[in-house]
Amino acid sequence: MRLKNGSRIIIGIVFVLLAISILQVPATAAAPNLPNNSCADCHRKLLFSSEAQRQFIDIRIKHLESGISCSIVCHEDKLNKSTASTYAMWSISSHALFDVTCEKCHGGNKSAVLKKDAHEGLSSINIARANTPETCGKCHESELEEFKSSQHFKKLESGQEGPSPACITCHQAHSVKVLTASEIEDFCSNCHNHITGINPAVPKNAEKALDSVNELEVEISKARSTIITAKAKGKDVTMAESDLESAKTILKNVPSVWHRFNLTYFETEVQKGIENTRKAEKETAESQTTPLPTKAPGFDGILLISAFIATYLLGIRRISR
Ligand code: HEC
Ligand code: HEC
Ligand code: HEC
Ligand code: HEC
Ligand code: HEC
Repeated sequence: MRLKNGSRIIIGIVFVLLAISILQVPATAAAPNLPNNSCADCHRKLLFSSEAQRQFIDIRIKHLESGISCSIVCHEDKLNKSTASTYAMWSISSHALFDVTCEKCHGGNKSAVLKKDAHEGLSSINIARANTPETCGKCHESELEEFKSSQHFKKLESGQEGPSPACITCHQAHSVKVLTASEIEDFCSNCHNHITGINPAVPKNAEKALDSVNELEVEISKARSTIITAKAKGKDVTMAESDLESAKTILKNVPSVWHRFNLTYFETEVQKGIENTRKAEKETAESQTTPLPTKAPGFDGILLISAFIATYLLGIRRISR
């Protein structure tokens, strides 16, 4: 009995130690593994330079892990824009995940170990706000293409006085956050309001427009499952499938089309997608009531009829004998 208790205590201690070591891992291992990139490697070490920054990163990582989307201003007051914070924000962004490393935007020499050598060729032109459409557009071509026909871009390019958003105004350079429908109204109204006089109807309409994208997503998944069910029953769903495909294409293009910042055009496109899904649903429903499969006898009916025929044929045979 005493021995058992003793081993229980030992197991307990081992367990606690294990738990502690597991809990401690994320704090040091959260940074992405980046071989052959001195920028990230050195800047990572500039990381926890203050308690506030460490807390900020902990909160962000916890949010990320539990799927809470954080607004771009959320918690940001907790840290000033320091060299360390750029790495911290970047390290948990999709850019870090997809190897969009520092030098891709800043230039410099990612193989050099010394700061002096690595920083040689750092470009301040690339990261200048007004040039971010070109810098970001190297990889985000379709967004850039649409953005070029927006009033935002025209204003930015004209160099006229007054505010105009560039890519990093809405996404931020290092966190590259994507505003959600619920964050849109607050954010856009920084510029679009009655005081500036820049179309104050935009924030509400923009929220509505992005909400309708959620509706399109819901309708697509509904239509998809209706079609799958109908198909399993042997229905002909060719027409419905092609309409569903059109809706999916529209959804796929939503992020780029958005950057034209023409809400009327955007809404029209999304509504077209929603109509396509409704059409697909209708076509699937009609394929169920078409005379071909449903009105034809089911398996039971076929069995019954075959039984009748068999009996009849047997009867004839008997008579003819
Ligand atoms: C050996 C460490 C080290 C390496 C390697 C390094 N940096 Fe830095 N970097 C720093 C430090 C430290 C600062 C803070 C600047 C200061 O306090 O002078 C800094 C500052 C910066 C800045 C702010 C602007 C400036 O000129 O001060 C940028 C941008 C930057 N680094 C980008 C990069 C890029 C891109 C790379 C890779 C090509 C890189 N760094 C490699 C240590 C490094
Ligand atoms: C997707 C492009 C992109 C990537 C990747 C990127 N940055 Fe930046 N960075 C920018 C832009 C754009 C700015 C200017 C931000 C602004 O004006 O608000 C900037 C600003 C900075 C600054 C402030 C510089 C100054 O002169 O004020 C530092 C420091 C910095 N970045 C470091 C880094 C480090 C370190 C990495 C990698 C861990 C990195 N950046 C990755 C685009 C990028
Ligand atoms: C070297 C290529 C490259 C550059 C330059 C680049 N990006 Fe990205 N970006 C990517 C990749 C790859 C992804 C992840 C895959 C995807 O979403 O397409 C991504 C994702 C994004 C996302 C989606 C983030 C998310 O969480 O869904 C945004 C927003 C974004 N980038 C904005 C920017 C902005 C703003 C700039 C310029 C400051 C920029 N990108 C520069 C390659 C790049
Ligand atoms: C006025 C604000 C604003 C500006 C300026 C802006 N974006 Fe966006 N961007 C958004 C919003 C909002 C979304 C999300 C749209 C949606 O939900 O469909 C988005 C979506 C994206 C995405 C797709 C993210 C995903 O989830 O697939 C990328 C990539 C992107 N933007 C890159 C850029 C680039 C590059 C620029 C500059 C050429 C830019 N954005 C300019 C607000 C902006
Ligand atoms: C930094 C300021 C700024 C921010 C932030 C901003 N805008 Fe704008 N927006 C402008 C300016 C300036 C114009 C051009 C107005 C003009 O030329 O009359 C404009 C024009 C527009 C237009 C065309 C105007 C119209 O009457 O059709 C739309 C749509 C638009 N913005 C949407 C958005 C959305 C959506 C957001 C938020 C994701 C946003 N804007 C955020 C400054 C901004």
